[in-house]
Amino acid sequence: MHDPLPENGAIRKLWTADAAIYREHLLRLDSVSRRNRFGGAVSDDFIASYVGISGGLDGVIHGFFVDRVLRGAAELRPLGTAFATEAEAAFSIERPWQSHGVGTALLSRTLLTARNRGFKLLYMACLADNRRMQQLALKFDAELTFDFGSVVGEVEAAHPTPLSVMRELVVDSTGFATAMLDVQSRLIRPG
Ligand SMILES: CC(C)(COP(=O)(O)OP(=O)(O)OC[C@H]1O[C@@H](n2cnc3c(N)ncnc32)[C@H](O)[C@@H]1OP(=O)(O)O)[C@@H](O)C(=O)NCCC(=O)NCCS
Repeated sequence: MHDPLPENGAIRKLWTADAAIYREHLLRLDSVSRRNRFGGAVSDDFIASYVGISGGLDGVIHGFFVDRVLRGAAELRPLGTAFATEAEAAFSIERPWQSHGVGTALLSRTLLTARNRGFKLLYMACLADNRRMQQLALKFDAELTFDFGSVVGEVEAAHPTPLSVMRELVVDSTGFATAMLDVQSRLIRPG
């Protein structure tokens, strides 16, 4: 049902309580990855503010964890009104885990969520020289169409199907249990 992940890797959705680990993950990105993720060089302060603001926005973030440490993330944010049919997706994978299929697995999950939210257009902010992101998007060219520099994808089945909703519920129930364990272990960890 899912793409294979590197050993000890798991994907689950992030929750509000995960803001700190999301910030730490983004701060760990090497300079090239950070530039690619944000479309230019950004400071540590920018990243801290970004995470603070993005936590208050409507959206879904899938996280890729290795041994409970967040090593990759895919954000999906509606663009516009409460009934938006367009969304933006952005990916960040720490360098040692790049080119191991994590982006493929995260994009697959993101597309499933996009379909279930009824998004018809998915924008992927992508620098023109980011070949890998473009290659990744091309793998889903049955579901995506492309525009120059930035990649613009159209989600093929814009309405949820019973199967797609069920698939998301199944992966969420697994992810939720892990999420609660993670939050709990952080709460009880001695200072
Ligand atoms: C871009 C990014 C999301 C891709 O994710 P990834 O996990 O590295 O990609 P995958 O391993 O799933 O590979 C996807 C495809 O990219 C291509 N690819 C992989 N490694 C590559 C490399 N080193 N050079 C060129 N193409 C490459 C392949 O076509 C691959 O598909 P295949 O393995 O079926 O042949 C990830 O590298 C990343 O986060 N980079 C830094 C931040 C960034 O660029 N974000 C995107 C802007 S929003």
